[in-house]
Amino acid sequence: MTSLLTVRGLTKSFGDNHVLRGIDLDAEAGTSTVLLGPSGSGKTTLLRSLDTLEVPEAGTVRIGDVEVDFGALPAKGRAREQQLRALRAQSGIVFQQHHLFPHMTALENVVEGPVTAQGRPKDEALAEGRALLEQVGLSEKASQYPSELSGGQQQRVGIARALAIKPRVVLFDEPTSALDPELVGEVLAVIKDLAAQGWTTVIVTHEVRFAEQVADQVLFLDGGVVVEHGPPSQVIGDPQQERTQRFLRRVLHPGGA
Ligand SMILES: Nc1ncnc2c1ncn2[C@@H]1O[C@H](COP(=O)(O)OP(=O)(O)O)[C@@H](O)[C@H]1O
Ligand SMILES: [Mg+2]
Repeated sequence: MTSLLTVRGLTKSFGDNHVLRGIDLDAEAGTSTVLLGPSGSGKTTLLRSLDTLEVPEAGTVRIGDVEVDFGALPAKGRAREQQLRALRAQSGIVFQQHHLFPHMTALENVVEGPVTAQGRPKDEALAEGRALLEQVGLSEKASQYPSELSGGQQQRVGIARALAIKPRVVLFDEPTSALDPELVGEVLAVIKDLAAQGWTTVIVTHEVRFAEQVADQVLFLDGGVVVEHGPPSQVIGDPQQERTQRFLRRVLHPGGA
């Protein structure tokens, strides 16, 4: 089995704050990886590094046949930008809060990436954009503006938007944590549906029950290292490390004993 996503020895600091301290990660095509961990453990920095929104100091990221060795990346210049752009094109990212353009309709938001960034023909992008909105259950909302949509609907447009560039891997950074509780389910259902359809996903979430259902593997991060990883039945169902046990107790029984 060869993995679609391979991360080796990834390190990233902000000043003297060593946020990622040698992360390894393998994900096979068509699988879902869930990242769990306390606030500040480096989950967002890891996802952003996969999408090159952050540039690690050392280590490698490979998605498909595009690999960047961050330790060997030129400090500046065209070769650096080319490498980062090539890796960035392999993933799409969905943030905690959608970053939709308020002056564009749902459909225009979805096709903006393919048309503007990738230079794809507009009619083709529009047809695909409509299909993506249908996939996230929003075919009726194509010509609505973000302000006319609920938070859950906006987040689903954000998901369609991330898929529109045809990424190999879809990254989700706490996609439901900014939503009102009654809107969480519809967004998780869409993510579960994508996973079932064979999209390769890496998902940061505190929804442990959802993680158990969707994940092929779970990584528990703390202090910028992977403390424990394995299938959800192991990491969530029978965690071996004390730090993992403590974290799960806290998220599963907030305020409890
Ligand atoms: N752009 C940044 N500049 C400086 N420090 C940052 C930046 N992004 C994250 N950090 C720091 O990195 C650490 C890990 O943050 P983050 O990756 O957001 O963790 P998590 O997503 O697990 O909560 C925190 O100490 C945070 O303050
Ligand atoms: Mg985060």
